[in-house]
Amino acid sequence: MPVLNRETSKDKGGDNALPKLPLPELPDTLARYQRCVKHLLTEEQFHRTKAIVQQFGAPGGVGEHLQQKLKERSEKTANWVYEYWLNDMYLNNHLPLPVNSSPAMVFPPQHFGGPSDCLRFAAHLISGVLDYKTLLDARALPVDYARGQLAGTAMCMEQYYRLFTSYRLPGPHRDTLVAQESCVMPEPEHIIVACKNQFFVLDVVINFRRLNERDLLTQLERIVRMADSEEERLPPIGLLTTDGRTEWAESRAVLMRESTNRDSLDMIERCMCLVCLDDASGPEISDSTRATLMLHGGGPGKNGGNRWYDKPMQFIIGADGCCGVVCEHSPFEGIVLVQCTEHLLKYMYGSPSKLVRAASVSELPAPRRLRWKCTAEIHKLLSASADKLHRLVRNLDMNVYRLDVYGKEFIKKQKMSPDAYIQVALQLAYYRCHGRPVSTYESASIRRFREGRVDNIRSATPEALAFVKAMTDGKLSSSDKEKMELLQGAIAAQTKYTILAITGMAIDNHLLGLREMARELKMEMPEIFKDEAYVISNQFILSTSQVPTTVEMFCCYGPVVPNGYGACYNPQSDHIVLCVSSFHDCPQTCSADFSKAVERALMDMKELCNTNQQKQPEPRQGAESKGKSTASEGELSKNQASLPKVVVKTADPVPGGR
Ligand code: COA
Repeated sequence: MPVLNRETSKDKGGDNALPKLPLPELPDTLARYQRCVKHLLTEEQFHRTKAIVQQFGAPGGVGEHLQQKLKERSEKTANWVYEYWLNDMYLNNHLPLPVNSSPAMVFPPQHFGGPSDCLRFAAHLISGVLDYKTLLDARALPVDYARGQLAGTAMCMEQYYRLFTSYRLPGPHRDTLVAQESCVMPEPEHIIVACKNQFFVLDVVINFRRLNERDLLTQLERIVRMADSEEERLPPIGLLTTDGRTEWAESRAVLMRESTNRDSLDMIERCMCLVCLDDASGPEISDSTRATLMLHGGGPGKNGGNRWYDKPMQFIIGADGCCGVVCEHSPFEGIVLVQCTEHLLKYMYGSPSKLVRAASVSELPAPRRLRWKCTAEIHKLLSASADKLHRLVRNLDMNVYRLDVYGKEFIKKQKMSPDAYIQVALQLAYYRCHGRPVSTYESASIRRFREGRVDNIRSATPEALAFVKAMTDGKLSSSDKEKMELLQGAIAAQTKYTILAITGMAIDNHLLGLREMARELKMEMPEIFKDEAYVISNQFILSTSQVPTTVEMFCCYGPVVPNGYGACYNPQSDHIVLCVSSFHDCPQTCSADFSKAVERALMDMKELCNTNQQKQPEPRQGAESKGKSTASEGELSKNQASLPKVVVKTADPVPGGR
């Protein structure tokens, strides 16, 4: 995870001072590709793939031609893969953003005494956003330096500057990531507050003065009163943004026919972020429930329409204390999101709310409700979007699990990379549940390079397979010593791939670049990209990501294929938080079972390490819970209850508070 240093990217000569993303050599990528897929294919499939790859890489062949073109592209552009990657990963994907694309950070549960506490929390948070925005506007954010593997390198900061200035515009064929570049006229500075499916413009700078927390609270109170008025209520237009991207692009075109709607869309598209004041969602607030509520709002009957998914940052503040942030993923990665939210939470922990009595309330113009002119056609579209969201909500199977027995310190003591160790545990868990290895994605940051985003660590290595087979053959044919050697081999292979990926030498971006170059040159698609192996290797049944935090919160996201798992983990010194997602309508997957299998894998690996150190084996704290290896929701809530809370300290009662 990156650490903060006081040097800003301006001091360092900006991101232009960073090296460009290198272009791997073609033969290296083709050899690695074959190594990555061989054990995921039948012998017959691999035989065919080998011949196809050989032909592609032959001297003077298509591969070399495309490689040459990529070389030219890398000379002309800041980052040869950025645009290809952005389109492939996000903008060409037509699936609805909630669950399928937008990750969420879940804050510790808040204990609001009543609605006024909730609004104070919101005002404090917005005040933190404005504080952070001041740093961003001055481009004064301290540069991140890599930690962990190859620590110490400066990281590209560009993603931060998109947090509050971009917007994902739906398109019939492809979405567009719109960035508001600062120009001569400063952009209007406003936040959109969503409350009871209504949208309100909250200007945060009035008469060249940034609103203080007291002002913000006053405005939020006004918004809540306006939203409460039933006769003024407008249809939940935000639901349209939860739909497939093509459907939303079509609905948006219908909305745009009315000038009232155009004005409202314009205000939303140019806002800094959304603050969604959610109604309470029901009695059960386990970690898993909170994660789902952050991802989809509970559906059209709850807070599903109280969102605008195209906007990168939507802070959610539930009346029941269920809070977090859901993000449109195309402008930035989870690590940047963590840094931003940690800044905000630390701002809130560190600075008591400044709800001092300030300037007269009447000086502030009232916030404005956004108006929508809704034809029968729009009502019909809304109802179709609501149905689809309802199905998505019912289909999401989320399990948040916390392993309290040990964390990354134990793993480091074994002289192993904690990230690699957890990845191997995920491989073991999947194999135990499904009896085969599957193509696995782990995001690896390439922010060491200009405009760097991520590449893929293909964690289903042959070495991991050898280890999981030894652990699961049921015949106890391998001794503990052999198993330990296989574990070490699996971790070494995983660590080696990690280093390849973070230094820009992994295969996924390169293969994507070659494929997209062929498309750009309007060539017939080379066989290698039509081959079954390529399709299989790009179906990431396990989609995994490490998102570590230093503040008590966790990240979650949905699976990327219908029969897959999303597995996001947050390794801490003495515990590991794991969020597993899958779809109920897939008969092969079950998030709770997978979490249990990960726990078992982690416990078995710990025991193996202990045994091999020839120490007195530590008591297996998880042993008693073998039958119920996943901590129950009740236990999770208990753990959570002991976490630090963001406390909103108010010096004096708020006049007019609800
Ligand atoms: N022995 C002892 N300690 C070791 C070790 C070993 N063999 N190998 C690693 N460690 C230590 C590291 O020094 C580090 O120590 P620190 O906690 O004091 O910094 C710690 O273990 C963690 O290192 P490791 O587990 O190897 O992982 P990492 O921090 O290098 O992370 C990635 C690896 C791939 C997750 C990281 O490089 C990355 O790319 N992160 C971004 C992921 C991302 O983008 N997520 C969001 C997607 S939306």
